Amino acid sequence: MDTYSYAQSQALFDRAVKVIPCGVPGHMSPAVNIPPSAYPIYAARSEGALFWDVDGNEFIDYMCGYGPMILGYRNPVVDGAARRQADEADLTMCASPKMVELAETLVDMVDAMDWAFFAKNGGDVTNYAAMVARSATGRKKMVAIKGGYHGVAPWMQALGHHGILEEDHTHTLRIPWNDVAAFEQVIAEHPGNVAGFIATPYHVPTFYDNELPDPGYWKQIEAICRKEGIVLIVDDIRHGFRLNMKGSHVHYGFTPDLVCYCKALANGYPISALMGTEAMKNEAAKVFYTGSYWYQAVPMAAALACLEELKRLDAPAWMLKQGSDLFGKMETMAAGYGFHLKVTGEPSMPNVRLTDDPSGMLHQAWCAECTKRGAFFASHHNWFISTAHDDEVLARTLAICDEAFQVIKEAAEKGRLAS
Ligand SMILES: Cc1ncc(COP(=O)(O)O)c(C=O)c1O
Repeated sequence: MDTYSYAQSQALFDRAVKVIPCGVPGHMSPAVNIPPSAYPIYAARSEGALFWDVDGNEFIDYMCGYGPMILGYRNPVVDGAARRQADEADLTMCASPKMVELAETLVDMVDAMDWAFFAKNGGDVTNYAAMVARSATGRKKMVAIKGGYHGVAPWMQALGHHGILEEDHTHTLRIPWNDVAAFEQVIAEHPGNVAGFIATPYHVPTFYDNELPDPGYWKQIEAICRKEGIVLIVDDIRHGFRLNMKGSHVHYGFTPDLVCYCKALANGYPISALMGTEAMKNEAAKVFYTGSYWYQAVPMAAALACLEELKRLDAPAWMLKQGSDLFGKMETMAAGYGFHLKVTGEPSMPNVRLTDDPSGMLHQAWCAECTKRGAFFASHHNWFISTAHDDEVLARTLAICDEAFQVIKEAAEKGRLAS
């Protein structure tokens, strides 16, 4: 198999760095994929589970655009609904009836949630959730998990990031995942002043293995929140619709007060949602929160079509099955080459890591060799499965993995891992 080269991507990037800070800022920066020379920078086209870069290289996307793609790129059902809505109206001077329809659909679908509020990005609604929790309780502190990510607002970004002040974190308290005692301790240290607890359904720290909730963890957190009057917020922005259409809280058997959705809600059209219980509705109404494009009807029409299609396909169950099949075979294949591939999290959204080399270089080399052959694997972040990852796509992926294992095995034996 020939490996890819990226001359056109590089030429565009050389132009970009002159006019855009970092060239490609944020999570799609080439700096996050190591070695950068193994990865494309600009995409030109997409279809199903695939995208093509500006050099014409074809990739099976195991990042799904970092999560939003769940039904395959350019899904005809979703894109058709979006086009029909665009022919009628998108942003006008009034809200769209689609907003009512979408809120009703979500309320019918998501367990225990009685209302929905729409914005654009995930961070819009995690921030709103914290404001609602503070308004509802009259308290200041937000408890979050160490290594948990909820967006780019200063109180959510890690301390030490440029532009973030210590004051921004005065009211953010971080505790370890799966540590109920730490939650109790932090409440005792700030009596009557904890407004909310926010966490993802399971822990997905960048660069580390994913961690599922311990048995009983969420139920215990819920019980403490109820006893102490703390608002329980699930950040389902990444996991949402990849575990259970009724909410990841149903998958893990507990009831939150607020749930945040974004990534896969509209298969790539820009929309996010905060959902909440009846008790939170008036509190949400009190908080002023809005944005220039939050009332666009096209993403709402896309979301309606996306949810309908996900339900029709029983998508979470299907993605969990495809993921179990693929990652099980990948683990066995790795073992055949004498490597240990560790798969953590749930199979529709797992973290995958070769553990044989503590420096991480072996894992980076394998991901790079796979990517250069057409299976886009990030080495620092969990991967995503979509309904477009069908059996044929999985078989092609495994053939690429096999060749990449041979390459890194030979390189490791010759002591030449870094490329
Ligand atoms: C769990 C989680 N919460 C919040 C966010 C923030 O979403 P956005 O980047 O759309 O603001 C992300 C984004 O990756 C996320 O994964």
